[in-house]
Amino acid sequence: MIWPSPQHSDAPGRSRIFLYLGLTAVFLLLSYQLVLNRELLGSVADWASESAFPSLGFDSSHNTTDASAIGIADANDNDNGSLSATNDGHSINPPSPSTTPSKSINFGIPISTPSTTVPAIPMQTPTLPREKELVFAAMLKNNMSWVTENLPEWHSNIYRVDATPEQAELTVPANRGNEAMVFLTYIIDRYHSLPDVSIYLHGGRYQWHNDNPLYDSVISVRDLQPTFVRTAGYVNLRCTWAIGCPAELEPARYYRERPDDQDHITAVVFPDSFAQLFPDIEMPERVGVPCCSQFALSREKIHERPLEDYIWVRQWLLDSPLDASITGRVFEYSWHIMFGKPTQFCLDPKQCFCNTYGYCDMSDEDLQQQWQWRGQSLPDGWPNVPDAPTQAHLTGEPEAEAESESEAEPKPETNDSAEQSLKQTSEQPPAQRKRDDSKISSRKRSLALADEMLDISDASRQALRDASV
Ligand SMILES: *[C@@H]1O[C@H](CO)[C@@H](O)[C@H](O)[C@H]1NC(C)=O
Ligand SMILES: *[C@@H]1O[C@H](CO)[C@@H](O)[C@H](O)[C@H]1NC(C)=O
Ligand SMILES: *[C@@H]1O[C@H](CO)[C@@H](O)[C@H](O)[C@H]1NC(C)=O
Ligand SMILES: *[C@@H]1O[C@H](CO)[C@@H](O)[C@H](O)[C@H]1NC(C)=O
Repeated sequence: MIWPSPQHSDAPGRSRIFLYLGLTAVFLLLSYQLVLNRELLGSVADWASESAFPSLGFDSSHNTTDASAIGIADANDNDNGSLSATNDGHSINPPSPSTTPSKSINFGIPISTPSTTVPAIPMQTPTLPREKELVFAAMLKNNMSWVTENLPEWHSNIYRVDATPEQAELTVPANRGNEAMVFLTYIIDRYHSLPDVSIYLHGGRYQWHNDNPLYDSVISVRDLQPTFVRTAGYVNLRCTWAIGCPAELEPARYYRERPDDQDHITAVVFPDSFAQLFPDIEMPERVGVPCCSQFALSREKIHERPLEDYIWVRQWLLDSPLDASITGRVFEYSWHIMFGKPTQFCLDPKQCFCNTYGYCDMSDEDLQQQWQWRGQSLPDGWPNVPDAPTQAHLTGEPEAEAESESEAEPKPETNDSAEQSLKQTSEQPPAQRKRDDSKISSRKRSLALADEMLDISDASRQALRDASV
């Protein structure tokens, strides 16, 4: 490399000095540029991954420099990026994601680490999506240890709807719309890293609407057929028709006639909500699906809609002036429509149990015993109570044996005051109530609770009465 020098033979020494100076300057510039570029690249990578996983649910396991920017109500602007969404989707398996070194170069601002030793590799760690995950809508008070104790092979996402980001690993922008807010938040946060199959559940292990004799979510999850979920796309976890099927809502008629049906508020608000949520679908005459908002989805089914749809729908939930429990119920009768099923989606129960759980060849009697109505609150201490189904029930042994066993403890009330005692049950403390739960009074109690159930159709109320035990 020969640099042109202004004077040739006169001063060869001076031009050589200039040459050295020039080379040094170029070298310094180049190395400075290299360092700069590295940091620029680093920050670009962060931003890219940040926007690839829009986080609107908050993962508090990552400390942020400005916690005040994470107002739980400000779900919609994640531009500040204080909530490293990148870890939400990918690196939950290792128990301490907050210790990943890449955190220290967030936004290209090196924090006390000499930049020359920080690896400049972009932080996106390609992880294979999981086969299956559980999504729980829980509250802080819920003891969720039953999940890991009984379903250790499932990865679980436990959202605490009433928690601040500091209080729980996963929470939601605002506690509105019951479980719907959780399910949508999970779908939004994990849209790009969804498992093959995700199951959406409430927090409690024993819930009155789980349709196995123990009302046990562990049984539902354990027996669910993932291959069927992959085929069907959307699978309701409930096969029993009681509440929801064959037709719970009549949107078109309510839209035309606008009845003031205070006993069934969801039916009243549903037509307008439906028109907003599904502008492209004609107002249906009937909407029917087994109740209670627990279902499973395949990744492909979720991906049939763009991420923006779910963001929009969740915003609807956040903005709705309706009471949170009502919007939750609107969604209860919307999920199957959102995921492409007919508005009336009531499968033959026997076929449904066979496909969904592998319980095939059920007799009519099996079907009747598979789910029974005991009210929305199961007896205290369930399933360790005298009138809970015993193991014999569950394994299909003759019923008589089980009955005599379970009746051994409480004395059946056969006298006329049984009805009297039933009237008192609601005011009695649980311990005493348990004692009074003889078979007769228990059935009367169930019937009474069917009549008290709020916001259901007359047909569903009758179905509960028919299933009272
Ligand atoms: C976050 O920082 C606070 C102190 O500011 C600390 O007490 C807490 O343990 C940190 N949490 C995590 C998950 O690092
Ligand atoms: C970023 O955070 C500041 C508070 O630190 C807040 O005032 C501002 O609105 C936020 N911007 C966005 C886009 O979230
Ligand atoms: C939570 O439930 C488990 C049983 O699943 C029990 O062992 C544990 O003591 C409970 N924890 C609390 C705090 O109640
Ligand atoms: C009916 O039961 C009540 C207590 O539950 C008792 O006081 C009463 O004597 C009983 N009557 C008959 C006829 O057994």
